[in-house]
Amino acid sequence: MKIVSVVGARPNFMKVAPFCRALKAYPDVKHVLVHTGQHYDVRMSEQFFKELDIPNPDINLEIGSGSHAEQVGRTMIAFEKVLKEEKPDWVVVLGDVNATCACSITAKKEHVKCAHIEAGLRSRDMDMPEEINRLVTDRLSDLLFTPDRLSNANLEAEGVEGGKIKFVGNIMIDTLERERERAAALDINQIVRDNLIDELDGRVEVEKGRLLKDNSYVAMTMHRPSNVDQGETLVPVMRFFLDEVSKEYPTVWAIHPRAQKMLKEFGLWDEVVANPGMILVNPLGYHEMLRLNMGARLFMTDSGGLQEECCVLGTPCLTMRWNTERPITLMENGGASILVGNAVEKIRDAYRSQIDAARHAMRPELWDGHTAERIAKALACSTL
Ligand code: UD1
Repeated sequence: MKIVSVVGARPNFMKVAPFCRALKAYPDVKHVLVHTGQHYDVRMSEQFFKELDIPNPDINLEIGSGSHAEQVGRTMIAFEKVLKEEKPDWVVVLGDVNATCACSITAKKEHVKCAHIEAGLRSRDMDMPEEINRLVTDRLSDLLFTPDRLSNANLEAEGVEGGKIKFVGNIMIDTLERERERAAALDINQIVRDNLIDELDGRVEVEKGRLLKDNSYVAMTMHRPSNVDQGETLVPVMRFFLDEVSKEYPTVWAIHPRAQKMLKEFGLWDEVVANPGMILVNPLGYHEMLRLNMGARLFMTDSGGLQEECCVLGTPCLTMRWNTERPITLMENGGASILVGNAVEKIRDAYRSQIDAARHAMRPELWDGHTAERIAKALACSTL
């Protein structure tokens, strides 16, 4: 059997690592790893391959940046050639990035079976590019590997045949469990020093003073177009961070290239850099981010994966979105996160209610570190 699996952007890398490893138990399965190249910076891509022992991609499509149509279109054109050459039995796609959608469409048009890891998540927000990617991919896939039972219910409600749906748990937690000890051994202040953005290099300890201690800093990430692309949204939210949060607790922001670009566009960059409580670091490596999360008093984020990591680590989390495709991580379902959207009053209320909250780790069913093994077995033994 030959499997071509596809990664494109950062959130895919921690999911493919355990999958590559689990396939090694099946010597008859030939595995070809394709990187579409949507994320190409060392910090957004290569670093994760090294840290997580992911084999070098066999093929890199070098798609790079662009509009959604450009990224999806270029990926489809290049991936069609890969399929014609490799003639796999299965294409395996992960998550909800543009590569996921582009390659599932291409696979089905080339009459290749497609399996989707992390199927069935739904935010029901069609303004989110990832929701479109999820819907298209799940509609086309022959095997749908779900991370939780809520996702099974979503797929069943959409009319997906029960036999195609396999509840396997959350593959990202395989990586978290494997790597958490290594992350715990890292020094949080060293992480900050190693990753400061150029403008802050050498200045943080002098000007931004206090060394970070566990449970005494806020961690944040924010990069979604819905939060950073419009000034009316980004500016008031940033004022809250600049004028309130960072005055109470040092706030470590691992800043995504898109957010950096938009802060510059809206004239906020210099103020954010100069603010004594804001500690801006470049996109962090996997272990560094896990360590940042483990010591954070509160995590404020619009990322999908971080909600899940906060849930398992027990870090109180404010999710700066109006909806989530991962409701299992919400406090009302036993998790660690609260949806706060991007309106400042709501963010402030939740911040006040959670900043002194105790950590409370939670482990949803089958988030046990063995998801990739279940997936590899299902694929290797599939009679489809
Ligand atoms: C993508 C995913 C999103 C995920 C995010 C995490 C889609 C639809 N979205 O969004 O689900 O949460 O990754 O990182 O696939 N850029 C760089 N260097 C890079 C990559 C991008 O500078 O290595 C710049 C690009 O030039 C672009 C911006 O960052 O201006 C956004 O990149 P893009 O790949 O379009 O989407 P993300 O916002 O990263």
